[in-house]
Amino acid sequence: MSSLAVNFLGIPMASPVIGASGTVGFGLELADYIDMHKVGALSGKGLAPTPWKGNEGVRIAETTSGMLNCIGLENPGAPYFIEHYLPEVRKLGTPFIANMVGKSVEEYAECARILTVPGISALEVNISCPNVKEGGAAFGTDPKQAAAVTKAVKEATSLPVIVKLSPNVTDIVTIAKAVEEAGADGISLINTLLGLAIDTRTRRPILGNITGGLSGPAVKPVALRMVWQVAKAVHIPVCGLGGIMTGEDVVEFMMAGAAAVQVGTANLADPTAMERIVDELDAWCDRNNVRDVNEIVGTLQA
Ligand SMILES: Cc1cc2nc3c(=O)[nH]c(=O)nc-3n(C[C@H](O)[C@H](O)[C@H](O)COP(=O)(O)O)c2cc1C
Repeated sequence: MSSLAVNFLGIPMASPVIGASGTVGFGLELADYIDMHKVGALSGKGLAPTPWKGNEGVRIAETTSGMLNCIGLENPGAPYFIEHYLPEVRKLGTPFIANMVGKSVEEYAECARILTVPGISALEVNISCPNVKEGGAAFGTDPKQAAAVTKAVKEATSLPVIVKLSPNVTDIVTIAKAVEEAGADGISLINTLLGLAIDTRTRRPILGNITGGLSGPAVKPVALRMVWQVAKAVHIPVCGLGGIMTGEDVVEFMMAGAAAVQVGTANLADPTAMERIVDELDAWCDRNNVRDVNEIVGTLQA
């Protein structure tokens, strides 16, 4: 047996495998399927300061080796989460990361203040949602705005702050460096890639929102490339995700420089996926005489 324990941003985790936001709810249903003590942490569904309704119409479409979604960040709001879900989440005994969103810098800061409570180990700031105040641009595609959100959230909380980057940019390293400079404690990447699916019979988009976010195995090579580029460029820990389906995928992300990883779409295809992935990672380490999983971080020879 190898040691799979990691310490990510001061949070002791049983393994480097974290449940990705939007694919594990708040972890409560997952506990019926897997041993939650093997999972490193859970990142909950994105929370805003007030409830959000999400998009109308079809919100999910299958694609070759992946899926598109346009849920539209539907969520019950951070205060409701704290009152109705957090007491149960705490009983799981798995570190909980609160993923958060906002429509303005002030809303992000407000959300961070609300979520800075016992039972939450870190904040993960999703900066790839539409910036309504700025006319629909995304915070995650402009280094100045990405830095402004990071700074405001850091000032509003005492928790470690992970900033989750959007891959829908030409130069991911510029955004990563901007959030590092603004005080981010860690970076997670990637969120979904913007995509489109068409119904040829009706000549209409399949999704109600026309476009949606692509995730699953189809995005893995893009995610790996971005994790590798960012991990080389920053001095803060990186959490890698995008298309992880197996233990060996985890190894690839860690070799590219990720200190921890997240599993998303795989949970939707199979709710037992994370436990299997942890077991496969353990078996890979044994086969390759790796006693401590941390040894493989950043060992890509390139
Ligand atoms: C249905 C669905 C909902 C998601 N909701 C969120 C969310 O609320 N906040 C967030 O930061 N990312 C969200 N994501 C993005 C995932 O956390 C992850 O970044 C992305 O899916 C890539 O990883 P994967 O290929 O393992 O799924 C969502 C993804 C899916 C498929």
